[in-house]
Amino acid sequence: MPELHVLPTPEEVAQAAASFVVDLADKSVFTEGRFSIALSGGTTPRRLYEILASSPHAERTAWDGWHIFWGDERCVPPGHNDSNFRMAREALLDGVSIPPSQVHRMRGEVAPEKAADKYEVVLRDAFKTPTPSFDLILLGIGEDGHTASLFPGTLALEEESRLVVAYWVRHLEAYRITFTIPLINAAKTVAFLVTEQSKAGVLKQVLEPKPGSSMLPATLVRPKAGSVHWFLTSGAANQLQSEAMGKN
Ligand code: 6PG
Repeated sequence: MPELHVLPTPEEVAQAAASFVVDLADKSVFTEGRFSIALSGGTTPRRLYEILASSPHAERTAWDGWHIFWGDERCVPPGHNDSNFRMAREALLDGVSIPPSQVHRMRGEVAPEKAADKYEVVLRDAFKTPTPSFDLILLGIGEDGHTASLFPGTLALEEESRLVVAYWVRHLEAYRITFTIPLINAAKTVAFLVTEQSKAGVLKQVLEPKPGSSMLPATLVRPKAGSVHWFLTSGAANQLQSEAMGKN
């Protein structure tokens, strides 16, 4: 059952998510000696990353135990305005001391399929298991119910063995690289951040799907042995049934 954390404003959502991430990281570093996190892209998580790179988290967090990955990337160079890596570098990585060898960027500047193949190798090397189990995967959703770069009606959603795929997203007229559902669902913890009221309708479809309705990509995120947390503003959550809200 997903756990909802509903707060009045985007700033409070980002602050709550930051505390959640740091607590999880500290536990993972203490018990496992490392914390593996896959960052999400887009605009919503920027404030979360800025808070992580600010006091008190910046000085209290065991950054040398963090291993940073990305759940998806646009097929652009790392300095491009659209790069998820660039956003995270500016908002988080430039402000904290994570060893560069522990920052695993998706190579958006190389041929997409080659970048996806390379990233699978990076993951298998980093985790030494056929299907890596991330300590935490951060995700967002789009107004069409996509998550990471898994868009409705695409073959990427049906991938059952690959960890990472790259494909042409027709409506964006762009290539994307993305984790697949099997990789996401192997995570110990998944945390979604949704702060825009414009996503209230799709959030209801994702969390309270009507019987017989087609499953949106974000609805497919159901970690086999992991937990799912939703960090939501009241505006984004305002169409959810009250009983679902009661768990926050
Ligand atoms: C990306 C993200 C994508 C994002 C949603 C929400 O690369 O864009 O991974 O899945 O999380 O599109 O984006 P916003 O936070 O910008 O609304």
